[in-house]
Amino acid sequence: MSDTILANATLVLPHEVITGSLRLSDGLITAIDTGAHVPAGAEDCGGDLVMPGLIELHTDNLERHIEPRPKVHFPHVGAILAHDGELASTGITTVFDALRVGSIVSKDKASYGEYARLLADEILAIRKTGALRINHLLHLRAEVCSETLIAELAKFGPEDGIGIVSLMDHTPGQRQFRNLDQLRNYVRGKHGLSEEEFLHHVASQQALSDRLGAQHEAAAVAEARRFGAVLASHDDTTAGQVATSARHGATFAEFPTTVEAAQECRTRGIYVMMGAPNLIRGGSHSGNVAAKDLAQMDLLDILSSDYVPSALLSAALMLGDQWGDLPRGVATVTSAPAQATGLVDRGQLALGLRADVIRVARLAQAAAVRGVWVGGRRVG
Ligand SMILES: [Fe+2]
Repeated sequence: MSDTILANATLVLPHEVITGSLRLSDGLITAIDTGAHVPAGAEDCGGDLVMPGLIELHTDNLERHIEPRPKVHFPHVGAILAHDGELASTGITTVFDALRVGSIVSKDKASYGEYARLLADEILAIRKTGALRINHLLHLRAEVCSETLIAELAKFGPEDGIGIVSLMDHTPGQRQFRNLDQLRNYVRGKHGLSEEEFLHHVASQQALSDRLGAQHEAAAVAEARRFGAVLASHDDTTAGQVATSARHGATFAEFPTTVEAAQECRTRGIYVMMGAPNLIRGGSHSGNVAAKDLAQMDLLDILSSDYVPSALLSAALMLGDQWGDLPRGVATVTSAPAQATGLVDRGQLALGLRADVIRVARLAQAAAVRGVWVGGRRVG
Protein backbone atom coordinates (compact mmCIF):
# COMPACT_ATOMS: atom_id res chain seq x y z
CA MET A 1 0.00 0.00 0.00
CA SER A 2 1.44 3.42 -0.88
CA ASP A 3 1.77 6.06 1.80
CA THR A 4 -0.95 8.61 2.47
CA ILE A 5 0.01 12.08 3.66
CA LEU A 6 -2.67 14.31 5.17
CA ALA A 7 -1.12 17.78 5.10
CA ASN A 8 -2.10 21.28 6.21
CA ALA A 9 -4.41 19.74 8.81
CA THR A 10 -5.48 20.78 12.27
CA LEU A 11 -4.21 17.69 14.07
CA VAL A 12 -5.96 16.72 17.28
CA LEU A 13 -3.12 15.14 19.25
CA PRO A 14 -3.64 13.60 22.71
CA HIS A 15 -2.93 16.85 24.60
CA GLU A 16 -2.68 19.61 22.01
CA VAL A 17 -3.95 20.82 18.67
CA ILE A 18 -1.36 21.72 16.04
CA THR A 19 -1.19 22.57 12.35
CA GLY A 20 0.71 19.78 10.70
CA SER A 21 0.73 16.65 8.62
CA LEU A 22 0.27 12.96 9.21
CA ARG A 23 1.85 10.11 7.27
CA LEU A 24 0.11 6.72 7.06
CA SER A 25 2.19 3.75 5.87
CA ASP A 26 1.52 0.02 5.97
CA GLY A 27 -1.57 0.53 8.10
CA LEU A 28 0.17 2.60 10.77
CA ILE A 29 0.79 6.25 11.64
CA THR A 30 4.47 6.67 10.78
CA ALA A 31 5.11 10.43 10.93
CA ILE A 32 3.61 13.51 12.57
CA ASP A 33 5.13 16.83 11.45
CA THR A 34 4.33 20.42 12.25
CA GLY A 35 3.66 23.21 9.73
CA ALA A 36 1.22 23.95 6.90
CA HIS A 37 3.50 22.75 4.11
CA VAL A 38 1.80 20.50 1.52
CA PRO A 39 4.32 18.19 -0.15
CA ALA A 40 3.75 16.79 -3.66
CA GLY A 41 1.30 13.89 -3.62
CA ALA A 42 -0.16 14.82 -0.23
CA GLU A 43 -3.84 15.50 0.44
CA ASP A 44 -4.27 19.18 1.30
CA CYS A 45 -6.73 19.21 4.21
CA GLY A 46 -7.15 22.97 4.02
CA GLY A 47 -7.08 23.31 7.80
CA ASP A 48 -9.71 20.63 8.47
CA LEU A 49 -9.53 18.71 11.72
CA VAL A 50 -7.71 15.39 11.49
CA MET A 51 -8.26 13.13 14.47
CA PRO A 52 -8.29 9.48 15.46
CA GLY A 53 -11.18 7.39 14.12
CA LEU A 54 -14.02 7.10 16.62
CA ILE A 55 -14.52 4.01 18.78
CA GLU A 56 -18.12 3.07 19.55
CA LEU A 57 -18.78 0.70 22.45
CA HIS A 58 -22.56 0.42 22.50
CA THR A 59 -24.77 0.87 19.47
CA ASP A 60 -27.98 -0.92 18.63
CA ASN A 61 -27.97 0.74 15.20
CA LEU A 62 -27.75 -2.64 13.47
CA GLU A 63 -31.15 -3.63 14.91
CA ARG A 64 -32.69 -0.67 13.11
CA HIS A 65 -31.42 -1.99 9.77
CA ILE A 66 -32.56 -5.55 10.49
CA GLU A 67 -36.01 -4.56 11.74
CA PRO A 68 -36.70 -1.17 10.12
CA ARG A 69 -40.32 -1.23 11.34
CA PRO A 70 -41.73 -3.20 14.29
CA LYS A 71 -42.02 -6.86 13.22
CA VAL A 72 -40.73 -6.06 9.70
CA HIS A 73 -37.56 -8.08 9.08
CA PHE A 74 -34.91 -7.40 6.45
CA PRO A 75 -32.19 -9.76 5.12
CA HIS A 76 -29.21 -9.55 7.42
CA VAL A 77 -26.25 -9.35 5.05
CA GLY A 78 -27.54 -6.20 3.35
CA ALA A 79 -28.45 -4.77 6.74
CA ILE A 80 -24.95 -5.35 8.14
CA LEU A 81 -23.34 -3.75 5.09
CA ALA A 82 -25.64 -0.71 5.29
CA HIS A 83 -24.96 -0.34 9.02
CA ASP A 84 -21.20 -0.61 8.38
CA GLY A 85 -21.37 2.06 5.69
CA GLU A 86 -23.45 4.35 7.90
CA LEU A 87 -20.94 4.13 10.75
CA ALA A 88 -18.00 4.76 8.39
CA SER A 89 -19.77 7.86 7.09
CA THR A 90 -20.06 9.23 10.63
CA GLY A 91 -16.36 8.78 11.43
CA ILE A 92 -16.61 5.58 13.48
CA THR A 93 -13.72 3.23 12.63
CA THR A 94 -14.15 0.62 15.38
CA VAL A 95 -17.52 -0.55 16.58
CA PHE A 96 -18.65 -3.04 19.17
CA ASP A 97 -21.95 -4.19 17.73
CA ALA A 98 -24.32 -4.66 20.66
CA LEU A 99 -26.37 -7.84 20.45
CA ARG A 100 -28.92 -8.70 23.12
CA VAL A 101 -28.77 -12.10 24.77
CA GLY A 102 -31.68 -13.15 27.00
CA SER A 103 -35.15 -13.21 25.47
CA ILE A 104 -38.78 -13.35 26.48
CA VAL A 105 -40.35 -16.18 24.52
CA SER A 106 -43.48 -17.06 26.48
CA LYS A 107 -45.67 -14.08 25.55
CA ASP A 108 -47.43 -12.91 22.41
CA LYS A 109 -47.14 -9.18 22.93
CA ALA A 110 -44.03 -7.51 24.37
CA SER A 111 -42.07 -10.66 23.59
CA TYR A 112 -38.65 -10.56 22.02
CA GLY A 113 -36.91 -13.53 20.56
CA GLU A 114 -33.39 -14.84 20.31
CA TYR A 115 -31.19 -13.51 17.51
CA ALA A 116 -27.66 -12.88 18.84
CA ARG A 117 -25.89 -16.14 17.89
CA LEU A 118 -27.18 -16.10 14.32
CA LEU A 119 -26.36 -12.42 13.83
CA ALA A 120 -22.91 -12.82 15.38
CA ASP A 121 -22.19 -15.64 12.92
CA GLU A 122 -23.27 -13.42 10.06
CA ILE A 123 -21.15 -10.46 11.20
CA LEU A 124 -18.09 -12.67 11.70
CA ALA A 125 -18.58 -14.31 8.28
CA ILE A 126 -18.86 -10.97 6.46
CA ARG A 127 -15.88 -9.62 8.39
CA LYS A 128 -13.80 -12.56 7.12
CA THR A 129 -14.57 -11.66 3.49
CA GLY A 130 -13.03 -8.19 3.93
CA ALA A 131 -16.24 -6.53 2.73
CA LEU A 132 -16.65 -4.36 5.83
CA ARG A 133 -15.21 -0.87 5.83
CA ILE A 134 -14.59 -0.52 9.55
CA ASN A 135 -13.55 -2.83 12.41
CA HIS A 136 -16.44 -4.77 13.91
CA LEU A 137 -16.18 -6.40 17.34
CA LEU A 138 -18.93 -7.97 19.42
CA HIS A 139 -20.69 -6.72 22.52
CA LEU A 140 -23.19 -9.05 24.18
CA ARG A 141 -25.85 -7.24 26.17
CA ALA A 142 -26.88 -9.77 28.80
CA GLU A 143 -30.48 -9.08 29.87
CA VAL A 144 -30.92 -10.37 33.40
CA CYS A 145 -34.70 -9.90 33.33
CA SER A 146 -35.30 -12.55 30.68
CA GLU A 147 -36.12 -16.22 30.31
CA THR A 148 -33.29 -17.57 28.15
CA LEU A 149 -30.08 -15.78 29.16
CA ILE A 150 -28.06 -18.79 30.29
CA ALA A 151 -28.91 -20.91 27.26
CA GLU A 152 -28.11 -18.06 24.85
CA LEU A 153 -24.76 -17.27 26.50
CA ALA A 154 -23.79 -20.94 26.36
CA LYS A 155 -23.79 -20.72 22.57
CA PHE A 156 -20.78 -18.35 22.67
CA GLY A 157 -17.16 -19.02 23.53
CA PRO A 158 -13.68 -17.48 23.66
CA GLU A 159 -13.24 -18.21 19.92
CA ASP A 160 -15.87 -15.53 19.15
CA GLY A 161 -13.56 -12.78 20.36
CA ILE A 162 -16.31 -11.05 22.32
CA GLY A 163 -14.99 -7.69 23.48
CA ILE A 164 -17.68 -6.60 25.91
CA VAL A 165 -20.40 -8.21 28.00
CA SER A 166 -22.75 -5.71 29.60
CA LEU A 167 -24.97 -6.64 32.47
CA MET A 168 -28.43 -5.21 31.85
CA ASP A 169 -31.42 -5.40 34.13
CA HIS A 170 -34.52 -3.76 32.70
CA THR A 171 -36.88 -4.99 35.42
CA PRO A 172 -39.72 -2.43 35.66
CA GLY A 173 -39.52 -0.07 38.63
CA GLN A 174 -35.76 0.33 38.84
CA ARG A 175 -32.70 1.73 37.03
CA GLN A 176 -33.60 3.06 33.56
CA PHE A 177 -37.26 2.41 34.30
CA ARG A 178 -37.43 3.53 37.91
CA ASN A 179 -40.24 5.78 36.75
CA LEU A 180 -43.11 3.57 35.55
CA ASP A 181 -44.67 6.40 33.52
CA GLN A 182 -41.57 6.51 31.34
CA LEU A 183 -41.76 2.75 30.91
CA ARG A 184 -45.47 2.96 30.14
CA ASN A 185 -44.81 5.39 27.27
CA TYR A 186 -42.00 3.25 25.94
CA VAL A 187 -43.59 -0.21 26.17
CA ARG A 188 -47.12 0.79 25.21
CA GLY A 189 -45.79 2.78 22.27
CA LYS A 190 -43.47 0.05 21.08
CA HIS A 191 -45.74 -2.96 21.51
CA GLY A 192 -49.20 -1.37 21.36
CA LEU A 193 -50.34 -2.65 24.77
CA SER A 194 -53.54 -1.63 26.56
CA GLU A 195 -53.19 -0.27 30.11
CA GLU A 196 -54.30 -3.64 31.48
CA GLU A 197 -51.79 -5.49 29.32
CA PHE A 198 -49.08 -3.06 30.41
CA LEU A 199 -49.78 -3.67 34.13
CA HIS A 200 -49.75 -7.41 33.52
CA HIS A 201 -46.42 -7.02 31.69
CA VAL A 202 -44.91 -5.12 34.64
CA ALA A 203 -46.08 -7.75 37.17
CA SER A 204 -44.84 -10.68 35.13
CA GLN A 205 -41.44 -9.06 34.48
CA GLN A 206 -41.03 -8.36 38.19
CA ALA A 207 -41.91 -11.98 39.01
CA LEU A 208 -39.43 -13.18 36.40
CA SER A 209 -36.72 -11.02 37.89
CA ASP A 210 -37.45 -12.34 41.40
CA ARG A 211 -37.23 -15.90 40.13
CA LEU A 212 -34.14 -15.72 37.88
CA GLY A 213 -32.42 -12.33 38.31
CA ALA A 214 -29.72 -13.29 40.80
CA GLN A 215 -28.90 -16.54 39.01
CA HIS A 216 -28.69 -14.73 35.65
CA GLU A 217 -26.46 -12.00 37.00
CA ALA A 218 -23.96 -14.50 38.40
CA ALA A 219 -24.00 -16.51 35.17
CA ALA A 220 -23.37 -13.46 32.97
CA VAL A 221 -20.39 -12.39 35.10
CA ALA A 222 -18.90 -15.89 34.90
CA GLU A 223 -19.50 -16.13 31.16
CA ALA A 224 -17.81 -12.75 30.54
CA ARG A 225 -14.75 -14.18 32.25
CA ARG A 226 -14.90 -17.35 30.17
CA PHE A 227 -15.05 -15.25 26.97
CA GLY A 228 -12.17 -13.02 28.10
CA ALA A 229 -14.48 -10.02 27.62
CA VAL A 230 -14.48 -6.68 29.42
CA LEU A 231 -17.49 -6.37 31.73
CA ALA A 232 -19.70 -3.29 31.72
CA SER A 233 -22.54 -2.29 34.02
CA HIS A 234 -25.71 -0.72 32.62
CA ASP A 235 -28.07 1.90 34.03
CA ASP A 236 -26.63 1.76 37.55
CA THR A 237 -28.73 4.10 39.69
CA THR A 238 -27.55 3.81 43.31
CA ALA A 239 -24.12 3.74 44.95
CA GLY A 240 -24.98 0.21 46.10
CA GLN A 241 -25.50 -0.96 42.53
CA VAL A 242 -22.16 0.56 41.52
CA ALA A 243 -20.49 -1.24 44.44
CA THR A 244 -21.96 -4.52 43.17
CA SER A 245 -20.73 -3.75 39.63
CA ALA A 246 -17.26 -3.06 41.00
CA ARG A 247 -17.34 -6.40 42.81
CA HIS A 248 -18.25 -8.10 39.54
CA GLY A 249 -15.21 -6.44 37.94
CA ALA A 250 -16.95 -3.89 35.70
CA THR A 251 -14.51 -1.68 33.79
CA PHE A 252 -16.98 0.89 32.53
CA ALA A 253 -20.51 1.95 33.36
CA GLU A 254 -23.04 2.39 30.58
CA PHE A 255 -25.42 5.27 31.20
CA PRO A 256 -25.47 5.59 35.00
CA THR A 257 -28.81 7.25 35.66
CA THR A 258 -27.94 9.52 38.61
CA VAL A 259 -25.16 11.81 39.82
CA GLU A 260 -24.82 9.54 42.86
CA ALA A 261 -24.04 6.52 40.67
CA ALA A 262 -21.59 8.45 38.48
CA GLN A 263 -19.78 9.76 41.55
CA GLU A 264 -19.48 6.27 42.96
CA CYS A 265 -18.03 5.11 39.61
CA ARG A 266 -15.39 7.81 39.86
CA THR A 267 -14.50 6.72 43.41
CA ARG A 268 -14.15 3.11 42.30
CA GLY A 269 -12.20 3.77 39.09
CA ILE A 270 -15.02 2.73 36.74
CA TYR A 271 -15.20 4.75 33.50
CA VAL A 272 -18.51 6.60 33.07
CA MET A 273 -20.07 6.32 29.62
CA MET A 274 -22.99 8.52 28.61
CA GLY A 275 -25.13 8.72 25.49
CA ALA A 276 -24.19 11.24 22.82
CA PRO A 277 -27.89 11.80 21.96
CA ASN A 278 -28.50 12.72 25.60
CA LEU A 279 -25.74 15.36 25.35
CA ILE A 280 -27.00 16.77 22.06
CA ARG A 281 -30.65 16.84 23.11
CA GLY A 282 -29.73 18.41 26.44
CA GLY A 283 -31.19 15.55 28.50
CA SER A 284 -32.13 11.90 28.76
CA HIS A 285 -35.14 10.58 26.81
CA SER A 286 -36.04 8.37 29.75
CA GLY A 287 -35.87 11.13 32.36
CA ASN A 288 -32.49 10.27 33.88
CA VAL A 289 -29.43 12.43 34.57
CA ALA A 290 -28.32 14.80 31.78
CA ALA A 291 -24.93 14.00 30.24
CA LYS A 292 -24.06 17.70 30.12
CA ASP A 293 -24.47 17.95 33.90
CA LEU A 294 -22.11 15.02 34.43
CA ALA A 295 -19.66 16.65 32.00
CA GLN A 296 -19.82 19.85 34.05
CA MET A 297 -19.09 17.90 37.22
CA ASP A 298 -16.14 16.16 35.54
CA LEU A 299 -17.93 12.82 35.79
CA LEU A 300 -18.05 11.85 32.11
CA ASP A 301 -15.29 9.80 30.47
CA ILE A 302 -16.76 8.12 27.38
CA LEU A 303 -19.52 8.91 24.91
CA SER A 304 -21.54 6.34 22.98
CA SER A 305 -23.75 7.02 19.99
CA ASP A 306 -26.35 4.64 21.48
CA TYR A 307 -29.14 4.87 18.90
CA VAL A 308 -27.87 7.74 16.64
CA PRO A 309 -24.48 7.05 14.99
CA SER A 310 -23.93 10.60 13.77
CA ALA A 311 -24.33 11.92 17.31
CA LEU A 312 -20.94 10.60 18.39
CA LEU A 313 -18.72 13.05 16.54
CA SER A 314 -20.96 16.07 17.08
CA ALA A 315 -21.23 15.37 20.79
CA ALA A 316 -17.46 14.97 21.21
CA LEU A 317 -16.93 18.37 19.56
CA MET A 318 -19.63 19.85 21.80
CA LEU A 319 -17.84 18.50 24.86
CA GLY A 320 -14.60 19.99 23.58
CA ASP A 321 -16.38 23.36 23.40
CA GLN A 322 -17.98 22.92 26.83
CA TRP A 323 -14.64 22.07 28.43
CA GLY A 324 -12.64 24.52 26.30
CA ASP A 325 -10.37 21.58 25.50
CA LEU A 326 -10.79 19.89 22.11
CA PRO A 327 -8.37 16.98 22.74
CA ARG A 328 -10.25 16.16 25.93
CA GLY A 329 -13.60 16.17 24.11
CA VAL A 330 -12.20 13.96 21.33
CA ALA A 331 -10.67 11.59 23.91
CA THR A 332 -14.18 10.61 25.08
CA VAL A 333 -14.80 8.92 21.71
CA THR A 334 -11.26 7.72 20.97
CA SER A 335 -8.58 7.06 23.61
CA ALA A 336 -10.98 6.60 26.55
CA PRO A 337 -13.11 3.88 24.93
CA ALA A 338 -9.90 2.28 23.63
CA GLN A 339 -8.45 2.17 27.16
CA ALA A 340 -11.69 0.89 28.68
CA THR A 341 -11.71 -2.08 26.31
CA GLY A 342 -7.98 -2.78 26.17
CA LEU A 343 -7.52 -1.71 22.54
CA VAL A 344 -3.94 -0.52 22.98
CA ASP A 345 -3.23 -0.23 19.25
CA ARG A 346 -5.59 2.67 18.50
CA GLY A 347 -7.43 5.73 19.79
CA GLN A 348 -4.75 8.43 19.42
CA LEU A 349 -2.74 10.17 16.74
CA ALA A 350 0.58 8.72 17.84
CA LEU A 351 3.48 7.06 16.06
CA GLY A 352 3.11 3.32 15.61
CA LEU A 353 -0.62 3.19 16.28
CA ARG A 354 -3.15 1.95 13.73
CA ALA A 355 -3.85 4.40 10.92
CA ASP A 356 -7.53 4.76 11.84
CA VAL A 357 -7.96 8.44 11.08
CA ILE A 358 -10.73 10.83 10.07
CA ARG A 359 -10.80 14.25 8.44
CA VAL A 360 -13.57 16.54 9.66
CA ALA A 361 -14.87 19.99 8.77
CA ARG A 362 -16.85 21.74 11.49
CA LEU A 363 -20.25 23.10 10.53
CA ALA A 364 -22.49 25.29 12.66
CA GLN A 365 -24.28 22.60 14.73
CA ALA A 366 -22.56 19.50 13.45
CA ALA A 367 -19.51 18.16 11.68
CA ALA A 368 -18.95 16.94 8.13
CA VAL A 369 -16.76 13.86 7.76
CA ARG A 370 -14.62 14.42 4.68
CA GLY A 371 -12.33 11.42 4.81
CA VAL A 372 -12.07 8.12 6.69
CA TRP A 373 -9.04 5.80 6.76
CA VAL A 374 -9.11 2.40 8.46
CA GLY A 375 -5.77 0.67 8.80
CA GLY A 376 -4.48 3.24 6.31
CA ARG A 377 -7.06 2.30 3.66
CA ARG A 378 -9.47 5.01 2.61
CA VAL A 379 -13.05 3.83 3.20
CA GLY A 380 -15.03 7.05 3.13
FE1 LIG B 1 -31.00 0.50 29.49
